[in-house]
Amino acid sequence: MNNVTKFVLTSVLCLACFVINTVAASGTPTFSIDYKKNCFLKDGAPFQYVSGSIHYSRIPRFYWKDRLLKMYMTGLNAIQIYVPWNYHETVQGVYKFTGDQDLEHFLDLANQTGLLVILRPGPYICAEWEMGGLPAWLLQKPNIILRSADPDYLQAVSNWLAMLLPKIRPWLYNNGGNIISVQVENEYGSYFACDYNYMRHLHAFFRFFLGEDVVLFTTDGNTDREMICGTLQGLYATIDFGTDTNISTAFNRQRRFEPRGPLVNSEFYTGWLDHWGDQHAQVDTQKVSKMLGDMLSMGASVNMYMFEGGTNFGYWNGADHDSRFRSVVTSYDYNAPLSEAGDPTAKLLAIRDVIKRFYPVPEGPMPPATPKFAYGFVTLQKVGNVSSLLDGLSPQGPIQSQYPQTFEEIKQYYGFVLYRTKLPRTLTEPTPLISPLNGVHDRAYVSVNGVYQGLLERDTTLVMKVTGQAGDQLDILVENMGRVNFGSRINDHKGLLSNLILGKDVLTDWLIYSLDIDGAIANGWPHTGLKCSFPAAASNSSDGPMFYMGTLDPTGFAWDTFLKLRGWTKGQVWINGVNLGRYWPQRGPQQTLYIPGPLLSPSQPNNITVLELERAPQEPRVLFMDRAQLNNTEKS
Ligand SMILES: *[C@@H]1O[C@H](CO)[C@@H](O)[C@H](O)[C@H]1NC(C)=O
Ligand SMILES: *[C@@H]1O[C@H](CO)[C@@H](O)[C@H](O)[C@H]1NC(C)=O
Ligand SMILES: *[C@@H]1O[C@H](CO)[C@@H](O)[C@H](O)[C@H]1NC(C)=O
Ligand SMILES: *[C@@H]1O[C@H](CO)[C@@H](O)[C@H](O)[C@H]1NC(C)=O
Ligand SMILES: *[C@@H]1O[C@H](CO)[C@@H](O)[C@H](O)[C@H]1NC(C)=O
Ligand SMILES: *[C@@H]1O[C@H](CO)[C@@H](O)[C@H](O)[C@H]1NC(C)=O
Repeated sequence: MNNVTKFVLTSVLCLACFVINTVAASGTPTFSIDYKKNCFLKDGAPFQYVSGSIHYSRIPRFYWKDRLLKMYMTGLNAIQIYVPWNYHETVQGVYKFTGDQDLEHFLDLANQTGLLVILRPGPYICAEWEMGGLPAWLLQKPNIILRSADPDYLQAVSNWLAMLLPKIRPWLYNNGGNIISVQVENEYGSYFACDYNYMRHLHAFFRFFLGEDVVLFTTDGNTDREMICGTLQGLYATIDFGTDTNISTAFNRQRRFEPRGPLVNSEFYTGWLDHWGDQHAQVDTQKVSKMLGDMLSMGASVNMYMFEGGTNFGYWNGADHDSRFRSVVTSYDYNAPLSEAGDPTAKLLAIRDVIKRFYPVPEGPMPPATPKFAYGFVTLQKVGNVSSLLDGLSPQGPIQSQYPQTFEEIKQYYGFVLYRTKLPRTLTEPTPLISPLNGVHDRAYVSVNGVYQGLLERDTTLVMKVTGQAGDQLDILVENMGRVNFGSRINDHKGLLSNLILGKDVLTDWLIYSLDIDGAIANGWPHTGLKCSFPAAASNSSDGPMFYMGTLDPTGFAWDTFLKLRGWTKGQVWINGVNLGRYWPQRGPQQTLYIPGPLLSPSQPNNITVLELERAPQEPRVLFMDRAQLNNTEKS
């Protein structure tokens, strides 16, 4: 029987299972796969899910309920969520499950809203999230083979799962909760290792902690290689694909690996991500609607990725490394049906109309967009440059090292590290500073005696010119732009990974300053200001890494807003101690940063801190707008 015939037959069977009236639910809730009728069974009745992805780690806790309600009102019956390991165990052995990390609260809100949950606890998640959700401390073993049966990796995974999965167990549908299925790993077939022993270990861990009943599944891309390496006996094989794919080709492929059971598209792409330097991605609403309708009419269960994208706050964005390193932008709007700020879009209404053809959608109005406000311009003042503020930013002082060490070696995993040494000889002519092995991960901002000289950038700028006198202080501030989250290069160490060469000299004898910028800002700096004077007032240069501060006057309310840094070059912004993420309007496409209203104070001056890495505008001011600008046409 050829695949097309097989496909037609199985879809007929699947449709059939929706017209047969099955036994009414008995007392205990059950969720399972019916391999005879090719569908899911919920409480004994055929069940098709219409789901959307939402990542609690990309939305402030305050707004979880709002986003979930909007998803419910669209007619979804389920949500699909990732658990980012590194968000909960940022420091090895220290687990966070409160506040924005309160996974159980999120599950509870989803349950109260009437949404089932498809849980994807990794341990690797991709998700365009820093290191695909793996904690960077795993890289302390330099040659660790991530996502494999490497014993050190497996040990860390088993410690984590032993912490996480027991919390999950009471939330399984069969135990009275709302989690109907649990994904093991994530698109594992796309990874080079193709290590079945690893998948068998994970399978065993998941069964041990979650029991024999729960539906465990895998998700892989639409190629044979991916399905071969990503699937495993005992884990239900699903597939993912977007609007450019032929539906029957893709589901036929799923059928070859999973001859019976429901058709499932675990990631139907409603939009796409942006990297810095990309055009802003958009996926056509009509294509999304048409394909969603086609899949639902075949009886397939579908999860829309993303339904609500949210934001890569702080340093949580991931990166890709194909031909070169490309970092993901701060916004994870994803051109999804709910915008980054949680507003219903035309795409959402179109999707609701499609769902209406199959299932009744809840009565009542769609909750409106949250109110936005254009608070206007705020002028900032210079605080000082990083070099002059080291006492406050690096309270523990530097590490001495003959050769540079990585972020992982000095156990600072995110943000910025300062590498300092002296010029070994006088350079009267501009002399090349070279990263011969492309070892700058990811950007290095170079100053000599406080005068900014330029930058090195991974894969693109491996040489720059420097002048100065023997003994002058050479400061190199290195920025981690987010670890690679996909492919074979996820062992993405940060900092200076190899020696720098200046002219003919290998630079040695470094002082390496771990910088706790976020800690200082969370403790009120620089607005408390007292420990640090403002020496930079002496210098009117606005080049090189430099802090700025200002305050947004309270208005009596705290509405969502968008921060535009027109004329600024590249950097990081905090508001009231919270790290909003990176800005880089010159490279784009993103032009504004989303500020959730609850981060603002209605009654106190709001503290803005900016770390500009290259060059601030003549007049250092920022603009609070009432709408997002995510594409390059909005630069001016
Ligand atoms: C989920 O919600 C249902 C219906 O409101 C409730 O009966 C059940 O106890 C909830 N489950 C949990 C684990 O809170
Ligand atoms: C998908 O592929 C099948 C079989 O190759 C073909 O018959 C069908 O027309 C294609 N569908 C679309 C929408 O291109
Ligand atoms: C940094 O600040 C110090 C102290 O005020 C100053 O000497 C130095 O020139 C500054 N560097 C730059 C690049 O402005
Ligand atoms: C701004 O910073 C000051 C000084 O650290 C602090 O007292 C105040 O509470 C901060 N404002 C807000 C809204 O957090
Ligand atoms: C500092 O400002 C003065 C007056 O505006 C100007 O003449 C001088 O060139 C500036 N110096 C630098 C380093 O930008
Ligand atoms: C870019 O932004 C402009 C202005 O907001 C908008 O009209 C346009 O549709 C956007 N283009 C893309 C590709 O997003």
